[in-house]
Amino acid sequence: MIMKQNEVEIESSEDQLQQLKDSLEMIEELLDNAYHGMVLVDHEGRIIKWNYEKLMGIKEEEVLMRPVEEIIENTRLHIVAKTGEKELFDVQKIQGYDMITSRIPIVKDGRVIGAAGTVLFKDVKELESLVKRMKVLESTVDEYRGEIKRLHRAKYSFEHIVTQNRQMIYLKELARKAAESNSTVLIQGESGTGKEFFAHAIHRASLRRYGSFITINCAAIPNELLESELFGYDAGAFTGAKKQGKVGKFELGNGGTIVLDEIGAMPLEMQAKILRILESREFERIGGNDRIQLDVRIIAATNEPLEEAIKEGRFRQDLYYRLNVIPIEIPPLRERIEDIPILAQRILEKLAVDLGIEMKELTFETIEVLKKYQWPGNVRELRNTLERALNIVQGDMIYPEDLPGHLIESSSKSSYSHSLLLKDIMAKTEIEAIQSALRDSNGNKSVAAKQLGIHRTALYKKIQAYEMNK
Ligand SMILES: Nc1ncnc2c1ncn2[C@@H]1O[C@H](COP(=O)(O)OP(=O)(O)OP(=O)(O)O)[C@@H](O)[C@H]1O
Ligand SMILES: [Mg+2]
Repeated sequence: MIMKQNEVEIESSEDQLQQLKDSLEMIEELLDNAYHGMVLVDHEGRIIKWNYEKLMGIKEEEVLMRPVEEIIENTRLHIVAKTGEKELFDVQKIQGYDMITSRIPIVKDGRVIGAAGTVLFKDVKELESLVKRMKVLESTVDEYRGEIKRLHRAKYSFEHIVTQNRQMIYLKELARKAAESNSTVLIQGESGTGKEFFAHAIHRASLRRYGSFITINCAAIPNELLESELFGYDAGAFTGAKKQGKVGKFELGNGGTIVLDEIGAMPLEMQAKILRILESREFERIGGNDRIQLDVRIIAATNEPLEEAIKEGRFRQDLYYRLNVIPIEIPPLRERIEDIPILAQRILEKLAVDLGIEMKELTFETIEVLKKYQWPGNVRELRNTLERALNIVQGDMIYPEDLPGHLIESSSKSSYSHSLLLKDIMAKTEIEAIQSALRDSNGNKSVAAKQLGIHRTALYKKIQAYEMNK
């Protein structure tokens, strides 16, 4: 009975020994493959395990229990076995190669009982080629970064916004001031009035001009994609997501300016998210854990009056207040007809260059037609009209007949006359000049007369003669 007990004990300790041997072999196998080699020394720096046969051509049995400094050139392993201080990624010359090595002390119960040395790179050159590869990758990333910046640059500056209209001059000034701060700007105005021009100009005049300029057209992106477009997502965030994840526009625009165009079309749910982000100045990718600090200026633009959208429950009032820090309301073209001649001239010059067509002039009468039209499509419509004319006109002048029919019709309704009699033309010119001077002087006739270079009574007479006081 007692014998049996002993047999069991012996058997089980043999099992344990075998298990220990197996795991030691496994560790040896692992060391052979994981590194270029490894050596273990005891607290006196004597070799107790040698795994450098492949690396140095020396067998284990030749070195066991010998002081490590006699076997490996320039080693410091015996020193680490004394100091207990680890030495990582040191360059050590062995057999003519600059090897990258690490030395780690082995501590038991607070006492250094030995040290382990490993070779991570057989030659610094291996590391050099790795560094080179990293440098290539880095410069590729830099190149793409530059490319992204070039792609997301603001094209227009305040010089591109030509105007003689008082309100527009004021708005340009306001926008210039806004550019200096980081405040959110809300640009409202009918379609084609030049909201995008203002957004570009603000970015270009700001300290963020070297950052990206990102425009997001909220109306053009389907609702279900808007969130991932704006915030991006991490790899595998949802089924159907790109494997490598996606950088969102907010991340892309960080450090620069983000234009939320057609913000009126943004779904309510998204409005709530944007509001939260504007308040916390932080966001995260979909499926991501890291919060990203948001350092952007937001410019919101819309051609539908947000006040109405709020009344109809389609736009959050709190978001409106958040966005409406600096409001810029661009007047429609029909309310700044004094801009039509200079705008038309500028646009024609630019078109001629862009299209490679010879420049053509507008006749006085053509300008009159342009001034009387209502321009529902504002400057965009003006530009398209001029582009069409530039293409079809043979000579070097653009006559009213060269304009689309509906323009002439609508302007003839408002007293456009084909008369070529000198007196009619003079009368018309006088009326225009007086109207313009009165507009400039806010109806003050003395100021208007001075501007026109005539006496005040002469102005009164003309106003009466042309029945302009009715
Ligand atoms: N000040 C300007 N000088 C020259 N061209 C202009 C000016 N303003 C607008 N334009 C012309 O009108 C076009 C429309 O301008 P922009 O895109 O800024 O309008 P928008 O107000 O953003 O319109 P939408 O609401 O339809 O987006 C421009 O592409 C440009 O050709
Ligand atoms: Mg626009």
